[in-house]
Amino acid sequence: MDLARIGATPKGGVRRITLTDVDREGRELFCRWAKEAGCSVSVDAIGNIFARREGSDASAAPVAIGSHLDSQPSGGKFDGAYGVMAGLEVVRTLNDAGIHTRAPLEVVSWTNEEGSRFVPTMMGSGVFAGVHPLQEVLGNRDVNGVTVEEALKSIGADGEAKPHKIAAYFEAHIEQEPVLEERKKTIGVVQGALGQRWFDVSLTGMDSHAGPTPMDTRRDAMVAAARLVLEVNRIGTTFPDYARGTVGFMQVQPNSRNVVPGLVKMTVDLRNAKDTTLTRMADEMKSKAAAIARECRVAIEITEVVYFPPSEFDPKLVGSVRDAVQGLGYSSMDIVSGAAHDAVYLARVAPAAMVFIPCEGGISHNEIESARREDVEAGCNVLLNAVLARAVE
Ligand code: GLV
Ligand code: MN
Ligand code: MN
Repeated sequence: MDLARIGATPKGGVRRITLTDVDREGRELFCRWAKEAGCSVSVDAIGNIFARREGSDASAAPVAIGSHLDSQPSGGKFDGAYGVMAGLEVVRTLNDAGIHTRAPLEVVSWTNEEGSRFVPTMMGSGVFAGVHPLQEVLGNRDVNGVTVEEALKSIGADGEAKPHKIAAYFEAHIEQEPVLEERKKTIGVVQGALGQRWFDVSLTGMDSHAGPTPMDTRRDAMVAAARLVLEVNRIGTTFPDYARGTVGFMQVQPNSRNVVPGLVKMTVDLRNAKDTTLTRMADEMKSKAAAIARECRVAIEITEVVYFPPSEFDPKLVGSVRDAVQGLGYSSMDIVSGAAHDAVYLARVAPAAMVFIPCEGGISHNEIESARREDVEAGCNVLLNAVLARAVE
């Protein structure tokens, strides 16, 4: 709740967009708390923060616990922040109990998980895991033309820590779907996450006068965009295997009420639990776009900016989460994540697992996002026991 004061919105949410001054304030508060808990703090070249609690075996790779401190433009208090605070709580609890682990622990805040200001999503963990080359990502620009590199420097988040080996990675997160709440379960034992394909789409027609230009000679980029939005929605609705299709961003030019719009830029976000179906969804979207382009006499350019296949977490580490849940006596169920998480990329370089807790109504990426105290606590307890199982062995 203290962290949520940074970037707090009037409706009770959080606006802590990555690599802004508000994000810097959130990062600084986390670093201060981590140091107060006895951790040493380092930052790497993409701004990922590592708060380290030493173990008794100096040669052991750390067990990492993380998530992200950035939020959506109209985000909530819990998406990402919960996982980082849960990691800090594990460290504080071990301190209180005087428990020393063999392996060091690292609480990590990954840069730009949300992918709202800059693509790609899960940028910090993607660079750490070697999925995205650092130099390539540093040049990516937001809608105002600011590069990731400039944004990192502007808030002093460009550090020097080098990538290192991680023994195991745990991430706690709100579920962001209503399943746990509906089934009255406290913990989701996460098996994996949906694959995603994100596109930048630009539709170019021709600006012209809204009065004199006859309807049949127009090259209306907005009409073409509207039709594509409906196709994306249809694809998300009709394809099998947990399909999702979303257009969440659109810019219209010249955006004047009496000008037929000549240019629209928009995004497409496609998700699926099966990679082959995800590919079919993307193919269908592209072929519909080509037909719309012909019919509307508009040029449509589609660039893929994010792709990762559906992921499965490490069975042994997922087992540690399940054992922790059973040991603590919480109700639970296996679950697949519809949202992206840094754990998806960490899973490529270390065994990874996630702990979900319910959030109210399953609502997330919204200022009213909320979670119950007892569930927040339960998630921390599961994380603590799962981490301990790995860090003492
Ligand atoms: C990340 O928040 C996502 O889009 O899944
Ligand atoms: Mn998140
Ligand atoms: Mn999110």
